This record gives sequence, structure tokens and C-alpha cells, in this order.
Amino acid sequence: MKLNRRTLTTAIAAASLAALLPATALAQKKIVLGFSQVGAESEWRTANTESIKSAAKEAGIELKFSDAQQKQENQIKAIRSFIAQKVDVIAFSPVVESGWETVLREAKAAKIPVVLTDRSVNTKDDSLYVSFMGSDFVEEGRKAGRWLVEKMKDQKGEVNIVELQGTVGSAPAIDRKKGFEEIIKADPKFKIIRSQTGDFTRAKGKEVMEAFLKADGKKINVLYAHNDDMAIGAIQAIEEAGLKPAKDITIISIDAVKGAFEAMIAGKLNVSVECSPLLGPQLMSAVKDIKAGKPLPKRIVTEETIFPMEVAAKEFPKRKY
Ligand code: AHR
Repeated sequence: MKLNRRTLTTAIAAASLAALLPATALAQKKIVLGFSQVGAESEWRTANTESIKSAAKEAGIELKFSDAQQKQENQIKAIRSFIAQKVDVIAFSPVVESGWETVLREAKAAKIPVVLTDRSVNTKDDSLYVSFMGSDFVEEGRKAGRWLVEKMKDQKGEVNIVELQGTVGSAPAIDRKKGFEEIIKADPKFKIIRSQTGDFTRAKGKEVMEAFLKADGKKINVLYAHNDDMAIGAIQAIEEAGLKPAKDITIISIDAVKGAFEAMIAGKLNVSVECSPLLGPQLMSAVKDIKAGKPLPKRIVTEETIFPMEVAAKEFPKRKY
């Protein structure tokens, strides 16, 4: 075939377009993130899910979201499905600390980086995940303990505490217990007389508090709840038992969600230690960094504070969750 000037120009244009196409298609290919969430057990968790979904949208990351309904086996299934779908990055908030080695090795073998958010795993091999971002739960427990020790510093007799623990085997339940005990053990007047799981839910918090009240009634001076939802459930139980929450029983909880602020403003909760669920933007920027080959810190700790009831009304309008 004889090439004239026109056919040559067309051929060159077509060739350049073909050369350009894969690059354009590549640039437009979205990063795919598989995220396995614990469930929807608390106001905190709902805010966390919302933060992750909206941050993914904002960052232009395709999110494959799976709700494990507080069951580890569902999280393992979701992670395996993300591996099969060859997502770019897997992130998850582990419902419990142990039992992740096998599935994390599968992700590593498939060369899919894993980010832990909110809760950590218990493993000797920390090459199984790239980074862990979230709160320092032990410190949250310490903050709760320090607040109590200060509040009760002039109290002479015994201080009987009942504890509503989070989900059995979960990092926040283990660590918040540990941090709190570490502080109160300095003074033998503080006694944890009952401690049971309320699984981080309002319904369970109420049910277990009812049982505590039945067993110990007026003996109880303090309730330490590992999250606000359980404290709010327990407040109902306390009122139904004819007692005044935050007066007859001092109540300390963790999260600082809006529901806790409402309870503090109503004079029914003494203090809430902050635990921020707004991890979405941080996670999306980590995912982008991983894809760009940038190194990430192994541990990213969220900065948090504590809100006693005296500051609740002033702080409430600023709360984002
Ligand atoms: O892991 C964070 C904890 O999980 C929050 O304190 C609690 O409310 C949630 O369910």
C-alpha cells in the first residue's frame, strides 16, 4: 500500500492514541479497598462506619464493605473473599484479638497489604500487617481510673465498683480493664466487686446492670462501663431500680459519643473518656500511601481527651459523632 500524507497522519494519530490508552485507563483505575467492620453494636461503631464510607467516597477509593455482625468467622470469610477478588488493600477492625494468623498469612501470600484500624491483633509476627491505627485503649482505662481516684480522694470507706466489660477477647475490653486496674490498685479502698461482659451493647448493658443491682443493690458506689452504650443501658436499669444515676452511683464510661453528652447534660453520667471513631480520612490516606510505595508508621495513635459532666453542655455543639 502506498502511503500518502493524509493516510500517514491518520495512522500516526491512531498509533499515538493506542499507545496512550493503557496509560489513561491505568490512571483512571480506582484503588480497591476491602474493609471488614466488626458490626453495628454501638453508636461509636455507626460513626466509625460512616467515617470510613464517606472518606472512601471523598478519596475516590472503591470500598468493598462487609459487616461481620460481631462474629470472627464472618470477618475471616470477608477477608478471604477480598483476597479472591484481588483487592488492592485490606483493612479491618478485628472483633477479637487472637486467631488471625492463618488468614493474615493468606493475605501476605497473595501480596495484599493489610491495615488494622481501631483494634489490634495478638500476633508475634508483625509483618502480617502494614500499620495499626487507632486509640490507646490501655491509656483510656487509665484515664477512667485517674478520674475516679481524684473524685474519691477524700472518701474514707470502701468504694465498691461494678464493671461492664466490652466483648470478651476484644482489645478494648482487655486493655480498658488493664489500664483502669493499674491505676485503682494503688489504693485498696477501690474494689471491683462484679465484672461481666455487656458486649458493648445497650441491651446487654441494661440486662447485666439489672443483675448487678439485684445482687448488690445499694452496695454499689461506682459503675465503670467500657463504652457509652452499655452505660446508657445501665442508666435505665439504675432508674428502674429507683436509684439516681450519677448521684447514688457514680458512672464512668468510654467513647464520648453524643448519647453520652446528652446523658451528662441530663445529669445521669459523670464522665466519658474520649475514643474517636473518625478513622476514615486517616485510613484512606494510608491506603494511598501504600499504593504509592510510601512507608507507613507501624502504629498511629489517635489523640484523645476526657469529658466530665461539668463541661458537657459547652462541648456538645462541637461534637462530630
Ligand atoms: O473498638 C472500639 C469500641 O468498640 C468502642 O469503644 C465501642 O463502643 C465499640 O463497639
